[in-house]
Amino acid sequence: MALEIWSETEEFLSGLLCPPDPDLARTVHVSEQADLPAINISALQGQQVNLLAKMVGARRILEVGSLAGYSALWLAKALPPDGRMVTIENNPLHAVVAADNIKAAGLADRVEVRVGNASDQLALLVSKKGEPFDFFFIDADQHNNVTYFERCLQLSRPGSVIVFDNVVRSGEVRNLETSNGAVRATQRVLELVGSSGQVDGVVFQTVGQRGHDGMLVVRIR
Ligand code: DHB
Ligand code: MG
Repeated sequence: MALEIWSETEEFLSGLLCPPDPDLARTVHVSEQADLPAINISALQGQQVNLLAKMVGARRILEVGSLAGYSALWLAKALPPDGRMVTIENNPLHAVVAADNIKAAGLADRVEVRVGNASDQLALLVSKKGEPFDFFFIDADQHNNVTYFERCLQLSRPGSVIVFDNVVRSGEVRNLETSNGAVRATQRVLELVGSSGQVDGVVFQTVGQRGHDGMLVVRIR
């Protein structure tokens, strides 16, 4: 019952706040047709990461976990015309779907889809010593979240922002006895953020179309 109210409320808010967008609609449709898991962020969450990236003035964005490219489109739309984005996807089929959706949205010149293991791809970026990234969105296999966090820190600069999806998971995050490796890794990231002295972090806890969950937002000092 309550879940229904939250979900309907989010739908109502999205209707008012998220302008209809043919590229995003096409991406959802293609994702359904290709039978990809329907675990993309919601429209309002897309608007949330888009606004955060704009607030940071992000010119370089890095995403871990492209799926069909839905969140990548929301993020790419936050970039200035000369901005750049890299999105990493381990599943080759998902990567093809994401690249097609990005191309169809006319954003292929700004967004590069990299296929492969995200830990390796991040290490490759670290070794290349390129320009730091301004904004990171981590939405992938959560048991590797500690590695992703450490490598994103290496790719960041003071003022960069790292956002993790799915840190609350219906309150499972508070279960310190959990045997779920994904939750344990996220708990470890939260401990690191809270104790590092190099970053500030907060969790925006949400209820809505994706149930009870939340995003961790970290800013490098
Ligand atoms: C699920 C949701 C997500 O946002 C995600 O990144 C992975 C899984 C889920 O609901 O199962
Ligand atoms: Mg997610």
